[in-house]
Amino acid sequence: PIEERISLLMKEMTLEEKVGQMNQYNGFWDVTGPAPKGGNAELKYEHLRKGWVGSMLTVRGVKEVRAVQKIAVEETRLGIPLIIGFDVIHGYKTLSPIPLAEAASWDLEAIKKSAQIAADEASASGINWTFGPNMDISRDARWGRVMEGAGEDPYLGSKVAVARVKGFQGNLADNNTIAACAKHFAAYGFAEAGLDYNTVDISNSTLYNTVLPPFKAASEAGVRTMMNSFNTLNGVPATGNSFLQRDILKGKWNFNGFVISDWASVREMITHGFAKDEAEAALKAIQAGSDMDMESHIYVAELVKLVNDKKVEVALVDDAVKRILRVKFELGLFDDPYKYCDEKREKATIGNKANNDGVLDMAKKSIVLLKNEGNLLPLKKTGQKIVLIGSLANDKTSPLGSWRIASDDNTAVSVLEGMQQYKGNQLQYEKGTELTIGKTTFLDEVVFNTTDTSGFESAKKAASTADVVIMVLGEHGFQSGEGRSRTNLDLPGNQQQLLEEIYKVNKNIVLVLNNGRPLALPWAAEHVPAIVEAWQLGTQTGNAVAQVLYGDYNPSGKLPMSFPRNVGQCPIYYNHFSTGRPIDSDKNVFWSHYSDVEKTPLFAFGHGLSYTTFGYKNLQIDKLNPSKGETVKVSVDVTNTGNVDGKEVVQLYIRDVTASLSRPVKELKGFELVSLKKGETKTITFNLTDAELGFYNNNGEYLVEAGKFKIFVGTSSTEVLESEFELK
Ligand code: IFM
Repeated sequence: PIEERISLLMKEMTLEEKVGQMNQYNGFWDVTGPAPKGGNAELKYEHLRKGWVGSMLTVRGVKEVRAVQKIAVEETRLGIPLIIGFDVIHGYKTLSPIPLAEAASWDLEAIKKSAQIAADEASASGINWTFGPNMDISRDARWGRVMEGAGEDPYLGSKVAVARVKGFQGNLADNNTIAACAKHFAAYGFAEAGLDYNTVDISNSTLYNTVLPPFKAASEAGVRTMMNSFNTLNGVPATGNSFLQRDILKGKWNFNGFVISDWASVREMITHGFAKDEAEAALKAIQAGSDMDMESHIYVAELVKLVNDKKVEVALVDDAVKRILRVKFELGLFDDPYKYCDEKREKATIGNKANNDGVLDMAKKSIVLLKNEGNLLPLKKTGQKIVLIGSLANDKTSPLGSWRIASDDNTAVSVLEGMQQYKGNQLQYEKGTELTIGKTTFLDEVVFNTTDTSGFESAKKAASTADVVIMVLGEHGFQSGEGRSRTNLDLPGNQQQLLEEIYKVNKNIVLVLNNGRPLALPWAAEHVPAIVEAWQLGTQTGNAVAQVLYGDYNPSGKLPMSFPRNVGQCPIYYNHFSTGRPIDSDKNVFWSHYSDVEKTPLFAFGHGLSYTTFGYKNLQIDKLNPSKGETVKVSVDVTNTGNVDGKEVVQLYIRDVTASLSRPVKELKGFELVSLKKGETKTITFNLTDAELGFYNNNGEYLVEAGKFKIFVGTSSTEVLESEFELK
């Protein structure tokens, strides 16, 4: 019946009204106040009343959403409801860890639940569509938006993408779920040199094997919308890219939701030098399959004329409008345009206990124990003097991370507050250094303090008498995210200097990292005995960190991105190709290496420790000469060999040794998060089928080729048991 309802409605619509559905505006005036006078806002308001606006973004809260929806439903000729979009990236008001951190949990159920919480709060606030999840595979930590994705691996990225889509969308017709948006289609994560909005120039094989799999998986999981990206891909802006949007997405994958442009990306095709003016930008965008224009104001200005002048076929407009209306019908907006507008629910839902418990659980699961020499962690609970150092430790805003438009500053539990819950030790806090100078907002460049070392002495004095020093160092929450590229992956400001000064007086340091991207910290990795990767963990940051430091929660996170030794290694990723000279077999310089640093990462993809240890034994493959189409079973015995219960992410990698295109030295093709009591052994079995053993060639054809496959199973991408089989 939805398709029939769409057809009936389409018959009623004028061309202007159809084009209106393809137009999205950002929230403009105080929508609950009087209509604006003058300027852009007045025009937007007029368009809204004429039915020339199909969607709005960044309007939020029941009161505001109801006000704009009322105009669309009650004042326009056909009363078509708006779809209300918002960047619900890692929670709405109650924040989960940044998405990269969540991916470090490798816990798909937890990730799904986190998206459900986000959907619950956003929908209670009037929103029915999120611009997420971000599924940009990214290999270059210089790019600030790595914090929004699931890291460098397409297999993990696909699983996480599906978990998030399912978490957001659930049953779309319910009132506590929202439509998801797979973004940014495509290849935005491959911006050259990690510079945001930069050129992307990659092979089709990389596109098909690395970039597209999460989008394909999301499409198969029923994601209702996709957002295209700012970048050009091999010379063609994604917004004007028919190959991506028409041939692959709507063609091969049969995607029947709609595609939204990124903010003004239709207009940016002019700046890219791909369209000469607004009319040509509109023409190229619609021909390429961009269905809705976010804030370029170009579709609404140009499309009617383009159709009337016979430059754009009306069928293209009809197709786009059908897609948009379909999602509105599926959300149930036509049956009840105010279904997300319930003040009582809004009040009861936002920030409630269940949501806080949920994000705390996710935060603990996202922490990665990078190093723990001499079992400095977990901390003893009594009789210790603990000195906590770093302005980030006493910060209630930075741990919320970037992309958190609806949440309020100062709402995170700080690490200091978390640590204060444990009363058995003496706890002293020292700032050590002020991290930033001036404003720290979503829009402003963060400026770091490099000169003021006035807090060093007092911190050193305190540290010199401590049993354990905990230093919370890293990036400010607004140092990653959109527009936050870096050419340095160090500790900003004078934090490195502070760390080294403290080390001179006390070597028992636990370094708790706060960061939205992999950092390059070779000095810390060599000297500091314990390093905890705590990212930006959202609202419950301090509680999560304290519970992990005190051993009330045994960490099990694993890195979803390689951490480089220095920035010059970027892009660095575990699933690279071999090169013809991977090792120094001739014992001279003519092999693939750097002369100043090892080419391996500082911390490898998949790395993460626990307060217990795990042993791997008995790697078995059930068929050593399988035929294509057969399932190969790979099993391994994993034992908790330490003294406490724990969880381990068992990882399976393959290598297709010889193929018609060079294949990566390792590719993740399975993982399982397994709980093991101390002393317990479990046999973990993975199934390998054609879906895991094949790859795409440069024409986008999926091939499974006979030959030798190496199999690696282990605790990270580098610590593995190895075996092999020969596919017939
Ligand atoms: O969703 C975002 C996108 O990721 C970057 N540009 C703006 C959009 C809407 O806020």
